[in-house]
Amino acid sequence: MSLLLLLAACGPAPTALEGETIGSCSYESPFSGELECREYYMADLPYAETDCEELLSTFEPDASCTVAELMGTCTYADGDVQIRTYVDADAPDRCGTNKFGCEFFANGAWEPGANCDGNNEVAVLEDPFPQPVRVCVDPLPGEPAGQSEGGKVCTWEVVSGATEDGRSFTDYAECDTVIRQRGYSAAEPNPLYAESDARMDDPAYVAEVDWARTQIRAGSCECCHASAKGVGAAIFDADAEGNLMNQFSDKGLAMGAGWIPTVGFGTYPPEENNGFWRSSPENPNLSVIPTVDPDRMIALFEAELDHRGLVRDDFAGMEYGGAGPLDAQRAFVPEACTEEEGVAPDGTIRWLPGRARYVYVMEADTITPTVPPNLDTPEGTLWRIDLPADGSPVFSESVVYGQVPEGMTQAWPLEGAPEPLVDGKQYYLYASADVLFPISRCLFTAGEPAPSSCDTTGGGGLAGIGALAALAMVRVRRRS
Ligand code: HEC
Repeated sequence: MSLLLLLAACGPAPTALEGETIGSCSYESPFSGELECREYYMADLPYAETDCEELLSTFEPDASCTVAELMGTCTYADGDVQIRTYVDADAPDRCGTNKFGCEFFANGAWEPGANCDGNNEVAVLEDPFPQPVRVCVDPLPGEPAGQSEGGKVCTWEVVSGATEDGRSFTDYAECDTVIRQRGYSAAEPNPLYAESDARMDDPAYVAEVDWARTQIRAGSCECCHASAKGVGAAIFDADAEGNLMNQFSDKGLAMGAGWIPTVGFGTYPPEENNGFWRSSPENPNLSVIPTVDPDRMIALFEAELDHRGLVRDDFAGMEYGGAGPLDAQRAFVPEACTEEEGVAPDGTIRWLPGRARYVYVMEADTITPTVPPNLDTPEGTLWRIDLPADGSPVFSESVVYGQVPEGMTQAWPLEGAPEPLVDGKQYYLYASADVLFPISRCLFTAGEPAPSSCDTTGGGGLAGIGALAALAMVRVRRRS
């Protein structure tokens, strides 16, 4: 029994919830800090109780949500269960973000409440996704000279970046930047970690685990997976006493062994990343952990999986599961543009209500762009323009194909004008409010005049923070 979602081109989306709610869960969003409340339909008690516990709150049977300041509701399905999340805040600047999170992460329907009436524009005006910066500094006192020009240590400040082997990422790059790209919340280790492990009496085994710690510390992973210098620990902690490997979930181990490809997280080629390798479209079965010795890392994780009695086949079909929402975005297959979207014969580009920081025109079969450094200009991109972080996002119909608007830069092609579009051929338009924050992503046919459009007057909605902030509202509970 699934939720009926009819997404009309121009109107609000009608939704049907079945039966009565079995109860509700009020909680504070771990990302936005806003009050939210969930009602569960077609759910059993354990489902709702566990879901609410994960939100650090307590399920109230038979109670409906009571909301003081309604921004809107998001109705979506998790398997057979239907959930309606109420967002309780007076923050009109976040209406667009909430709508986006609902529609794109949960495939749900957003219905604006009084505080978001008529305001569905998607825009990120402040604090956008930080693009990677290569930071070069002198080594810390007492550390050897760096391998870059002038003895500097150079590090890409991004989730997929690593500093030089043997050094600590947090000494050479800012975790703040990385956390804004990825989002952090503490998470408990696998309960297995509490048990004693005889293997820790074997110095050769301990040496391998300690080596893995050095690789985690050299990568951005140190920010969220090493409690001594980072912000805390999520599931595994390179600085934890005892056996680090027992902290991983089974799925985490499979990501470490490359049994589940983790391409979606993005990576640099090793020659640009201080020699660190990671899963990439070219080598999908490398480890999720950036490492200078991929074989050694894979061997360590495979031995752990073997120790738990797990085999590769146990993870079959999880090809795209490693990178969660990132994989979902990459796997997105565009459909025909609505009447409000596309590129007109004179080159004018139109998208849904919202203001863009990135605009792409691509071959129709191009993989949807996601994160830098290697998944944001997919092969098949004809033209891509970017707005600098402090720029003012652009409106629909203000950009003409091939003409870089003032204040924006052309990211692709590297030089010269893009190929002209061929009349009658289909292309992929991708306009986004930020990285991972699409406004329009659809197929249009070049040379076709724009049909009469719907009323696209938004309401000046200004989302202050990025896509991740909307994630908590709709994060579908992970079930094994
Ligand atoms: C900004 C914070 C942050 C950074 C940086 C980060 N992670 Fe994580 N990671 C998390 C959080 C939070 C979780 C747990 C919950 C989740 O998946 O959101 C997690 C979970 C994981 C898991 C799943 C663990 C398991 O056993 O289920 C793996 C594997 C992982 N991270 C690998 C990495 C690697 C490798 C890096 C470095 C390249 C990295 N992470 C960088 C925040 C981060």
